[in-house]
Amino acid sequence: MEINPICADFGACISGVDLSRITDADFEHIYETWLTYGVLCFHDQAIDKDHLQSFSQRFGPLEEMPVGRLSEAQRAKIDNIFVTPISNIRKNGKPVGALGNKEVIWHSDMTYSPVPPPASVLLAVEVPAEGGHTHYADQRAAYDRLPKALKAQVRGLTIKHDASHVSDGTLRRGYDPVDDPRDAPGTIHPIVRVHEETGDTCLYLGRRDWAYIPSLSLEDSEALLDELWSHAIVEGYVFEHQWAPGDILVWDNRRCIHRRSSFDQSARRLLYRCQVLAREQPSARW
Ligand code: OGA
Ligand code: MN
Repeated sequence: MEINPICADFGACISGVDLSRITDADFEHIYETWLTYGVLCFHDQAIDKDHLQSFSQRFGPLEEMPVGRLSEAQRAKIDNIFVTPISNIRKNGKPVGALGNKEVIWHSDMTYSPVPPPASVLLAVEVPAEGGHTHYADQRAAYDRLPKALKAQVRGLTIKHDASHVSDGTLRRGYDPVDDPRDAPGTIHPIVRVHEETGDTCLYLGRRDWAYIPSLSLEDSEALLDELWSHAIVEGYVFEHQWAPGDILVWDNRRCIHRRSSFDQSARRLLYRCQVLAREQPSARW
């Protein structure tokens, strides 16, 4: 295995490995490297959905696709319940995957849950010739570089992370529209979060829209959130990944935020995604 860092100590490409057939020792090395760099990239992986599932679940338990509302016939069509398509493609007028064609702004995945997920895994299947890149920004560097006064100001403060919208800004199924961030449903997390496994201190902003700092007035909360977001992207600690089919990216949601750039909607984009869940769930906590 060869490790090539993308930024100084954020993001790395690993070559010389076939993820469909790794040993436990290989995975240990990959996992340590993932903790060190926050985002890992592998090129040219000839991997199917089942291999993607096996590789991803080495990082932890996987989230199942929500199939509650599906008929038996629709359910039978799902070949792997742990692999979700991310796509703008429509079949018979219906989207084949999530996060279709809207803008996907900076976020960390599922921060609205009480114990947010560590890893997310994406495999590129079909990609547009231009655009549709995924950008990553290091939140350890962002915390590190915060002005001293701002660091002191946010110590002990929390953010309520909105659960009612998905990453492309649309309303999540089953949620009512909100018109005031104070009323948005969600979970409260510290703004400055210590990474459970590395002990790194990282900024943990989630997503800008509908966020709220509960101890402040709405006006002060909006102003402080805007200020914090203006420090979230640090030069030298941000990169964009230009996808090719067979690329696999694994990122640590506790360490980084990500977004997707726009792309021509006449082009097809299809990726497969596995969501790794935290091993420790709320029931074990309280
Ligand atoms: C995701 C996500 C962005 C992309 O899968 O969590 O934000 O580039 N994807 O598809
Ligand atoms: Mn995401």
